[in-house]
Amino acid sequence: MSSESRKRIDPSKVPAHVAVIMDGNGRWAKKRLLNRVKGHEKGSETVRTIVRASREIGVRYLTLYAFSTENWGRPKAEVAALMSLLKKFIQSEKKQMMDNRIRLNALGRIDRLPDDVASALRGAMAETRNNDGMCLNLALSYGSRDEITGMVQTLARKVKDGEIDVTDIDEAMVSGHLFTAGMPDPDLMIRTSGEMRISNFLMWQLSYAEIYFSPTLWPDFSEEEYLGIIADYQNRDRRFGKVSE
Ligand code: FPP
Repeated sequence: MSSESRKRIDPSKVPAHVAVIMDGNGRWAKKRLLNRVKGHEKGSETVRTIVRASREIGVRYLTLYAFSTENWGRPKAEVAALMSLLKKFIQSEKKQMMDNRIRLNALGRIDRLPDDVASALRGAMAETRNNDGMCLNLALSYGSRDEITGMVQTLARKVKDGEIDVTDIDEAMVSGHLFTAGMPDPDLMIRTSGEMRISNFLMWQLSYAEIYFSPTLWPDFSEEEYLGIIADYQNRDRRFGKVSE
């Protein structure tokens, strides 16, 4: 990391949880007359860069939107290529994750992933589960509405079975039944590629996140730009619906 970029970061105000919608791989490839898969490949390199930078500055949780419930509707070949990239990433980064005490976790319906990807993921999650340096959440086969629907079903079942009363249901209980149970909500959400949408990502958890839209396509997103966004975040006045002192 360049010392210039590092200087801009206040170590006492690093966001505990950063969430990212990594968008623009397809357009990056199209601009170069390449197959979309090439964009995803280049995008995986950006993933490595941002994971490393996050760990270095002390982010505790990094959540990356790698595959949405809607992405299953993409052409078969693209889905297969994304699955294969994910598996490669998990396998090739395991050593890095162990060396840097990074815990790998998945948010989403892992059971819908192809068996080989699901098993590589489960293996890496088990191997890294005691790492305490940073938690890397990959949102995979993830959709916020799907997550919230699952939470409602679980709580309804608990009420029906007499385990809890309707009046026991509060915000903490809802949070505790999402894939992010036990984690702090994201402080900062970044979406690349100039699109200004949430796209079914962490809709409950992003309630008070600072949002940053970057025009850069994900494969071109750099550590320098990321650190600039963190520095910008550190200057924002977070009021959580109250007034500043
Ligand atoms: C959005 O770009 C990106 C995705 C749907 C997948 C994100 C995947 C990666 C960055 C690579 C693999 C992930 C890991 C964790 C190694 P898009 O295809 O929607 O781009 P477009 O909007 O320009 O078409």
